[in-house]
Amino acid sequence: MNLGLDGKYALVTGGSHGIGRAIALTLADEGCNVAICARNKQRIDEVVGEIERKKVIGKGIMADATNPDDVTRVVNEITISWGRLHILINNVGGGGSWGSDDVEQTPENVWREVYDKNVMSAIRFTMSCLPLMRKEKWGRVVTVSSICGRETGGRAWYSVAKSAQISLMKNLSANHDLVRDGITFNSVAPGHIMIPDTGLDKKQKENPGEFSKFVSENFPLGRLGSPEEVASVVAFMCSDRASLLNGSSVVIDGGQSRFF
Ligand SMILES: NC(=O)c1ccc[n+]([C@@H]2O[C@H](COP(=O)([O-])OP(=O)(O)OC[C@H]3O[C@@H](n4cnc5c(N)ncnc54)[C@H](OP(=O)(O)O)[C@@H]3O)[C@@H](O)[C@H]2O)c1
Repeated sequence: MNLGLDGKYALVTGGSHGIGRAIALTLADEGCNVAICARNKQRIDEVVGEIERKKVIGKGIMADATNPDDVTRVVNEITISWGRLHILINNVGGGGSWGSDDVEQTPENVWREVYDKNVMSAIRFTMSCLPLMRKEKWGRVVTVSSICGRETGGRAWYSVAKSAQISLMKNLSANHDLVRDGITFNSVAPGHIMIPDTGLDKKQKENPGEFSKFVSENFPLGRLGSPEEVASVVAFMCSDRASLLNGSSVVIDGGQSRFF
């Protein structure tokens, strides 16, 4: 299936690792020119190199997505060098293991910081990128939420923030002016995704027996998902083929969650 993404311009926040990196590389495979932003320069440079080896334009920008000035700078740099943007992937997020299991003992700043990282960053990037998409009369905004935003899984502050991301996309999807300018707003809700060198990978290495029991009991496929499996769905959602997909929250969890 030709996704029609050849020659489009995309920005993936947190595109230097994990799900964001996989989305950036998958969009590049489809012919998209891809900018990524993150904090660590070395990892940015490595992924920009991988993008450019796919014969598209890659761009790396060092930025902290929780800093409003950085968000403005990222979009300004794209405006100056490209003058156009079709796709925004709000991927920066996390904080699911911040605080403690004891909700009453977890200070308010944890709630605020997790909200800031997941929700305010998505709001700021989306608002800053919309003028570029409206100019193109075409746009795709996909926000990486989680199944924790759809059911009572994980720690409360993470669940609240992931729900708010879904709500943000749903609300914007009902805005006639934006949608009639060709822009769609959707979210994805991945289940547990195995990312090298992060929490789940470390848990597996620390106690392989217990981890394998956890996987066997909770994951119908008998394994966790991969970042590439999330990225393929996201690439489709960014395509012309997905023109009727607007306001959706697409679960990508191999059957892990229990809701209908
Ligand atoms: N992994 C899962 O099982 C899973 C499941 C459901 C949903 N999700 C969601 O998927 C998204 C990506 O998670 P992941 O597991 O792929 O994470 P990851 O492997 O830790 O990668 C996070 C990426 O975001 C960047 N980043 C982190 N904080 C940033 C900040 N303040 N400003 C700019 N860039 C920042 C990181 O680079 P720097 O550190 O260099 O900045 C890196 O590129 C998150 O929204 C997460 O909630 C993950």
